[in-house]
Amino acid sequence: MKHIFNKGTNPNKPTFLMLHGTGGNELDLLPLAGVIDDEANVLSVRGNVLEQGMPRFFRRLSEGVFDEEDLIFRTNELNEFLNEAAEKYEFDRDNIIAIGYSNGANIAASLLFHYQHALKGAILLHPMVPRRGITLPDLANTSVFIGAGTNDPICSPEETKELQQLLQQANANVELHWGNRGHQLTMGEVESAKEWYLKLG
Ligand code: MLT
Repeated sequence: MKHIFNKGTNPNKPTFLMLHGTGGNELDLLPLAGVIDDEANVLSVRGNVLEQGMPRFFRRLSEGVFDEEDLIFRTNELNEFLNEAAEKYEFDRDNIIAIGYSNGANIAASLLFHYQHALKGAILLHPMVPRRGITLPDLANTSVFIGAGTNDPICSPEETKELQQLLQQANANVELHWGNRGHQLTMGEVESAKEWYLKLG
């Protein structure tokens, strides 16, 4: 997968997996990684799917309706890519924290839904429920921050709470942050995500 890897200055820090929103690319979220922890490794990936020229991490049939077969295929592809990248760049495969926005948050959530050890933690900014009707792996020891907007037209508050519940039922440790906004990224949620990250230790 097309990506950027920036080695961090502190080997004890995690690797941030940056996952952009629809129409974005691997450059978009680099500043965000620096705000959360500028000593961590950064692996920023471009989605392999194009929708009218806009990069995404998996296909969708329409707004909010995912192509499940492609979602499963792309989630596996990303998980395999993480295995390869950890070897190539010599970072700890068990210490990856995903930071995803919108479509990127959805593929990060899908990694959590399908693979027990894909991520140590995740900052999901405006995520949706990636799949329904499946049993999640045991996510004990996995920490998740969800940034959501009370007026988000793409990810409704009900869906946000459903995602929180599904992750908690799988034993993940979930913190939910509400902003009184829509689908856009806000500085408030980034600051809350940073506080959450600092508490992880
Ligand atoms: C998706 O398709 O993943 C969601 O609708 C979010 C987005 O618009 O990218």
